[in-house]
This record gives sequence, C-alpha cells and structure tokens, in this order.
Amino acid sequence: MHRAGHRIGPRHGLHRPRHAQDFCTLEESNRSSNPSLHEVSDPARRTVLRGGMSVAATVFFAGMAACAGKPPGVAGPRLGFKGIAASRADAVVVPEGYTAQVLAPWGEPVGIAGAMPAWAPDASNSAAEQALQMGMHHDGLQFHALEGSRRGLLVSNHEYTDDGLLHPGGMQPWTAEKVAKSQAAHGISVIEIELEAGRWQMVRPSRYARRFTAGTPFAVSGPAAGHALMKTAADPGGRRVLGTLNNCASGMTPWGTCLSGEENWAGYFHPSDQPTAHERRWGLRKNQWYRWHEYDPRFDTVRHPNEPHRFGWVVEIDPMDPTSVPVKRTALGRAAHEGATVAVTGDGRAVVYSGEDAAFEYVYKFVSRDRIRPAGGGLTAAQANADLLDHGTLYVARFDADGSGRWLPLVQGQGPLTPERGFADHGDVLIKARQASDALGGTKMDRPEWIAVDPASRWVYCALTNNSARGASGHPGTDAANPRAANTMGHVIRWQEEGDFGGERFRWNHFVLAGDAANERAEARGNVDGDAFACPDTLALGPRGVLWIGTDVGSRSLNQGEMARLGNNQLLACDPATGEVRRFLVGPVGAEITGCSFTPDGTTMFVNIQHPGESPGDRSDAAAPGQHSNWPDFRPGGRPRSATVAVRRNDGGVIGA
Ligand code: FEO
Ligand code: CA
Ligand code: CA
Ligand code: CA
Repeated sequence: MHRAGHRIGPRHGLHRPRHAQDFCTLEESNRSSNPSLHEVSDPARRTVLRGGMSVAATVFFAGMAACAGKPPGVAGPRLGFKGIAASRADAVVVPEGYTAQVLAPWGEPVGIAGAMPAWAPDASNSAAEQALQMGMHHDGLQFHALEGSRRGLLVSNHEYTDDGLLHPGGMQPWTAEKVAKSQAAHGISVIEIELEAGRWQMVRPSRYARRFTAGTPFAVSGPAAGHALMKTAADPGGRRVLGTLNNCASGMTPWGTCLSGEENWAGYFHPSDQPTAHERRWGLRKNQWYRWHEYDPRFDTVRHPNEPHRFGWVVEIDPMDPTSVPVKRTALGRAAHEGATVAVTGDGRAVVYSGEDAAFEYVYKFVSRDRIRPAGGGLTAAQANADLLDHGTLYVARFDADGSGRWLPLVQGQGPLTPERGFADHGDVLIKARQASDALGGTKMDRPEWIAVDPASRWVYCALTNNSARGASGHPGTDAANPRAANTMGHVIRWQEEGDFGGERFRWNHFVLAGDAANERAEARGNVDGDAFACPDTLALGPRGVLWIGTDVGSRSLNQGEMARLGNNQLLACDPATGEVRRFLVGPVGAEITGCSFTPDGTTMFVNIQHPGESPGDRSDAAAPGQHSNWPDFRPGGRPRSATVAVRRNDGGVIGA
C-alpha cells in the first residue's frame, strides 16, 4: 500500500547504495568472558523466537495494558495521524496535515553578536568561522522553553564530521587548518528560536547563542578529577580538558541543564603499533578516519597516553547561562556514552541512565547521593545543583534469563574491584568502567543507544540498535536480553525498577523486536505490530505518552537485502498501551533521524536529520559531494547538510494526536 505524504524537496529515484561503513559499528572491544551465565541455548526458546516473539515479549504483551496507563487527561487513541509509506525520496516526508520546516542546518551562524559569518555553500568557511556556526552531523537535540511553547533554546549535539563534505577538496591535501575546522564542527550548539506566524525562526543575535567545540575548556568534576590517569603535560592538575567529542544522545535535567554523551571518542586517538591491553579494551587502534594526530599531538597516545582518559564522559552544560563553564561528570563513569537520561526518585534524587553504544558493552545507571535542590538564595536551579552529579553510586545492569535484573554497584573495594585487580581507588573504577563491569558480570548488550523514561508508567526503554556479530565465531552468543544471532535489526528492551528508580533490582522484557515480517531469516522478522522498521536508535517519550523511535540503518545496508522494503531512515510513533507502531516521518537519502524533542504543549516536534547523503563507501567524495543527497538546499553542485527540522500540524494541534 502506498500512502500519501507531504515532502520537502523533489522526489528522487530509487537509491541503490553500494557498501559503506556504519560508523557506529566500528567499535567492538569487549573480549571479557562474563556473560556466559546468561547465554541461552535452549532450542525451545529459539522455536518461540521463530514464531516471531520472545518469551519475555509474550509476557509483556499480555500484561502491557495494565502496566502502561495513559497519563491523566489523555483520552482516546494516542496515534491520531495517518501513517506514511516507506520512502526512498531525497526528502523529509510527514503525514497529511503536517508540515516539516528546515531550521538551523550545518554552517548556519548560531547568532553570537558581531560574529555571524555567513554559510559558504562551497564549504570554504574557515575553522574560525565554523566555530561560530552550527556544527556538522546534528544528533541529540533538546528544546528548553524560555517563553512557553513560543520561544526557547535548542541544544544540539554535533556528533562527527565527514571531511569529504567539510572542506573544498575534502582531505586532499590534509592540513592543520582542516584539522582545526573538523574540531570546530564537533561539539554542541545552543541557539535561540521563536515561533512567528506558525514558523520557527532563529533569533540572531541572541545572548544565549553559543558553541562548544573540541577546543572549548571543560572542567572535570567528581571522583576522577585530578586522578593520576587524568593528568597530561598541558594539564598537570587533571582538572581541565579541552573539548568534547562525538556527542551523540542528550537529555535535559530537572534543574535545567543538558547532559550529552561522548560516544565513539576512541576513533580520534592514534595509538602505537602495539597498543596496551587497556587501550585495546577501549577500542584504541590505528585509524585513518580523523587524522587529527598529524597536526594536534594530543591525539597521539604515544606522546600523550592519558589524553584518552579525558574523553568518554557525560558532559553537563547550562544553556541558560552563556558564561557557565561546561563540566565532565566523572561520577557517571567513563564509557562510549550514547547519552544520559534522568529520572527522579520519590525522595527527590536524580537517577541517570546511560547506554554504551559499542557491541557487547553495557547499560549503566547513576543514583545521586543528594536530593535535587530548588532554585533560591540567589542561585538558579542549575547553580543550586552544580555538584549533584558528583556524588552517588554508579551501577551496571545484569539482565537475568528469568526476566529479573540486578544493578551491580561499581564501588572500589567491593567484590572484585580491588587494588589487586587494578582498581586502587574509585577513580580507577570510573576511568576503567568497562574493566570493572567485565569483572562484575554486567550483561554485554547489542549496542545500547538512547534511553527514555516514562514517568507515568515507570517503564525505562532502551534501544539496542543492532549487533551483527552476536553469535558469530569468537563472539558471545545469544542471551535472554539479546536473543537474536546476527542481530541486524535491533530491539527495544525495557525495565521497571522494583521499588523506586534508585532500586537495585528490576524486571525487564522486550518491548519490540525490530524487523520486517516479510524476511526469510527468522531473526530478521521481528514482532512489530504495525509499520516495519530496523535499527532503533533515538527514543523519546512525547508529551502525550507516545514513544517515538528514530532509526539509524547504516548506508551500507539501507534499502538493501533484509532492509529492502523499509525505505530510508525514519521516525515512528509507538503507543505503549497497545504496542502499535506507526510511521510518522521518513528522512532524506542516507540520513539518520535523531534528537526528537517537543515544545511543552506538544504542538511542535524538533528532530535532527543527521548525515543526509552518507556515502555507502566511506566518507563523501569531495568531487561529487551531492551525489547521494543534496538535501535540504538542492543547490546545483551543492552538498547535503545535516539540519534540525521543526514539524507542526497545519491546524496547530498536538503532534501525533
Ligand atoms: Fe552515535 Fe550510538 O549513535
Ligand atoms: Ca545514536
Ligand atoms: Ca548514523
Ligand atoms: Ca546509531
């Protein structure tokens, strides 16, 4: 069935990608042997899986209606829009009655007074100009209201750069200026926006406009601040780091700050020919993707072996205070952090959930020691909670085969986390959180991405995007939580804490196994009730209790093989009360859909369109930068640009209702 939709940009013929790297699949460094106690080899269980639904999922669907009630005041079905068809168009497609507006593409000046260099369509902006403009490859996105749902701030992550697009001539020749521009295109943007006559506009100049780049000074706080492993020649105190890298997902805190995850930071560093076991466990290997070390020696780990320890943290920024110093929160542990999502316990403590997006890595949570403090006494809420995330307990998740789970505390001196095992102090535990989790027996997951918390039902959802190595020779086999071998499709797992969000035990099940029921391979069919999809990445709970799922199928496999019927990456709405999944938005060729955020009244959805035109082969060809996608400008001879999109209903109503 082909359903109508409204598009930005012209229709595009069928796109036939060749083969590309899925950037996020690069890292797989977990060779520890801890998950064997969870491995499931029960043939009966596999039979159930071939039937399209896991045991845990069956239990979930039977009990779901009782568990996920509608929030107060919400009546009738949650999904009130007409779902759209899969699309291969080089366009953003939304349902009938909706309009998607491009806002804040890569290169747009963010709006710093007196420093607003115009976007150069040939990518000739300098590094200094790029540092004043929207970065590249928008990812995590949060709307922070200033004036109801009419004016606010957008905090946008810029995950990585494609240097084939970023510079005229791409990486030929490779220069110090290009390294500086790549670093300036990373990080986070804060922009001010307002709604006028139904359209969002950037407010420029704005006192809030700000860029954080790979060169911005960050304070280090928490137990690993000042640790010996954090000290470098440039920072002998180990308390001040230049820059944030590979910022992927994000979350707002109840005190008005934004948390952002430093994800695949290992790829920026260049180790020796013989990396240490510690470096190998963290995925450090020679790579030719960034080549920053050729002009910036701090990314050469032979010369600066501690510099990698200064990345892989959750960073906290206060978008309301443009003079505030951003902070790396070491108490939350070091990881390839996808992002960070906050829940609040009944007694007012913060619980921060975070997945580590790398094959066979872990799910974490941090429980603050102290309660969230209100603003007052001359302090903003952000200032009143300036050290809240510096004190507390970090846990790694173990998903047991009976549907129960345990949060295992990463506390130095407890269990195996002793000096004899390499954990002389708590800083060691946090900096080597992977090794600590290996020792504790956390469950090795299929690449944990975004985590969303539903405060009404108290379900915590986590996207496990895919793990094609699951069950392959030399790799861990399936287990109860990661039940499919060669898991190309991914799944969404969810749990409810026993007691409060701070508890140490939980019950879990599979919310949905992604896939296409038309596939021959049983493991690629899934159990989606509604529109088929693959590779869930972004998760967001909308104001009406709808779970929004953004997908990230790598361009190597997009619209190929088992993905052939799924179209471009997309955003789907899921009603947690029924399990129904309905396709809401489809992105341009090669793009990932990420960063779903709403105005408080639910009438605008902001999403980020990341890496349109992602090359199926490698980085983009500088000689033909628009060959796969030319979205959103469609300028002759132009290049694709990641961008934020604002989606509104033409009648001004609530999105998805
Ligand atoms: Fe950056 Fe895990 O996606
Ligand atoms: Ca992601
Ligand atoms: Ca991607
Ligand atoms: Ca991803």
